[in-house]
Amino acid sequence: MSLIGALKAVGQRRARQYKNIYLPVKRSNEKLADDNSYINSALEQIDSLQQYLELNQTTRIIDFGCGQGRFANGLILRLPDLKHYTGVDTNDDAIKWCKRWIENYYPNFQFHFIPAHNARYNPSSPPRQQLTLKQKGFHLAFLNSVFSHMLIEDVKFYLGEMHKLLIPGGVIYATAFVEEWVPEIEENPDGYLNEDCVGPLHRVRYEKTYLLNLFEKAGFDLIDFEYRGIKRTGQSIIVARGKGIKES
Ligand SMILES: C[S@@+](CC[C@H](N)C(=O)[O-])C[C@H]1O[C@@H](n2cnc3c(N)ncnc32)[C@H](O)[C@@H]1O
Repeated sequence: MSLIGALKAVGQRRARQYKNIYLPVKRSNEKLADDNSYINSALEQIDSLQQYLELNQTTRIIDFGCGQGRFANGLILRLPDLKHYTGVDTNDDAIKWCKRWIENYYPNFQFHFIPAHNARYNPSSPPRQQLTLKQKGFHLAFLNSVFSHMLIEDVKFYLGEMHKLLIPGGVIYATAFVEEWVPEIEENPDGYLNEDCVGPLHRVRYEKTYLLNLFEKAGFDLIDFEYRGIKRTGQSIIVARGKGIKES
């Protein structure tokens, strides 16, 4: 590893205290450098989820593509007695950070590295491996800013995996770049949101009906769609409920 690479890796491992939790010093999230904005972004999502399901200490949550535990840290502040949280990510450094700075202090928050291919976050791993988690029967699958960096076959596959992991009637909350009157899918569309794209899968944009059909085909009924609901990133929010039986 080069000196710059080594320094970067050390930076990614550091944390600073915020109330009774730790936050990453080097962050992968866009526009969330300030600690209050970072944690408030998670608290706002937690509060808005209460309209779709009751969040209490027995709610079982899977945070797929959990990154550096932004949502987990918000949950610790809002629901400190939460018994079952599972965070999964293909970024080994992010999972190491979460284990060291979250799981160590809050063992009900469990983090797992899965070596799954993603051209942006983990290009060297093989694609689409089934999730073999001990914990099943989740009430909520949370995928913030994950499908926004995934192509169609991955989205289909992980929607299927989430459906298998949720209880019947369980809720999936996902954010994605979604528009009408655009091609079904486009990776890094020119000038989209007036920002430049950097590297593969920076912004994967889906056509609305096409993406919502993928949820339907994976066995979910749409509950809510909020166009560009995440103002900071321009991502839309999709909330759906598992039907129990998947369309063939
Ligand atoms: C933009 S970050 C969002 C992190 C987190 N969800 C949040 O809201 O702060 C996208 C995350 O998805 C993860 N990811 C992408 N593809 C994945 C896959 N196939 N399996 C697991 N994690 C994946 C990346 O490693 C990255 O941490």
